[in-house]
Amino acid sequence: LRGYEEFIHHSVTLREGPEAACARMGFRVRTPEDVDRAARYFDELGCRTQRVAAGTTPGFGEAVRAIDPLGFTIELVHEIEHVEPLVQRYDLRRGASINRLDHINIATPDVPVAFDYYSKLGFGLSETIEDFDEKKLYAAWMFRKQTVHDVAFTLGSGPMIHHIAFAVPESHNIFSLCDTIGALDLQASVIERGPGRHGVSNAFYLYILFHDAPTTEIYTTDYFTGDPGHQPIRWDVHDERRRDFWGNAVVPSWYLAASGLLDLDGHPTPVHDQPVTERTVTVGADGLG
Ligand SMILES: [Fe+2]
Repeated sequence: LRGYEEFIHHSVTLREGPEAACARMGFRVRTPEDVDRAARYFDELGCRTQRVAAGTTPGFGEAVRAIDPLGFTIELVHEIEHVEPLVQRYDLRRGASINRLDHINIATPDVPVAFDYYSKLGFGLSETIEDFDEKKLYAAWMFRKQTVHDVAFTLGSGPMIHHIAFAVPESHNIFSLCDTIGALDLQASVIERGPGRHGVSNAFYLYILFHDAPTTEIYTTDYFTGDPGHQPIRWDVHDERRRDFWGNAVVPSWYLAASGLLDLDGHPTPVHDQPVTERTVTVGADGLG
C-alpha cells in the first residue's frame, strides 16, 4: 500500500498472521553505500543483523535488517522500485485521501535512551514534553525529512508501536473522514481521539482504531523544520495544551494501548513494563485529575 503522493513501490505492507504485530519498520538511506555502512554500524553496536537480497521485500533492493538498540526490527534500504505518483489524480482519491506515511510513534520505557540513539543516526529534534522541575523527558519528536517528525517517543511499556500516522492534504479531509465514519455508524468503535489540534507539532489530527491494527493517526498541517537553525520547542508535561491545543482531555486508552513487535525470526519481542506515563503524572494512576 502507498499514499497518493508516494512514488515508491509501497510504504506499508499488511500480512496475515496469528497475532497483530509489527514485523519491522524501514528507513530509506541516501546511497547504496549507506546500506553497507548501516550493516557495519549495527554490527559494531553488537546488534543482530541480517543482509537480505534484492526482492526479499517486494519492490526493494538489497537491504540490511537489524534488531536495533531499542529492540525494534528495522530495515534499511536504498534501492526502491519507483512508480507513478498519483498526487493530482483527484479522480482516484477516496477515503481520507492519504498522501503518505508520515511518522511512527514508538512506546519506550526509556525516552532519553531512544533520543540518544536516534540523534546518533542523524535525526534532528523538533519538540519535547518534559517535566521542567524534575528534569525528566517524557516524549520527543525527531525528524529526517523537513517536517516535525519521522519518529516520536512516548514513555510507556515497550518496545512497542504507539501509533502510525498518515498525512492527508488538508484538515477538511479529516472532517470528511469523520463524516464517513458517522455515516457508517462506526463512530463508537473507530474514532478513538479527536479531531483536534495538537499543541506539539501544531498538526490537526484524528486517531482511529480498526480491528487489531495499531492505533492510526490521520495527520496534517504541521510545519517546516529544514532551517539549520531550527530550535526545538519544549513543552511542560503539565501544560494541558501539549497533546490537544484546545485543552480537550486525552482519552485513557490513548496512553495505555500499543502494539507489539516481532524479532528477525518472527517471534514476539519481550515488553518491558513502564508504569510511569504522562497519564500517571498529569491525571494520576487512578484516572482522576
Ligand atoms: Fe503522531
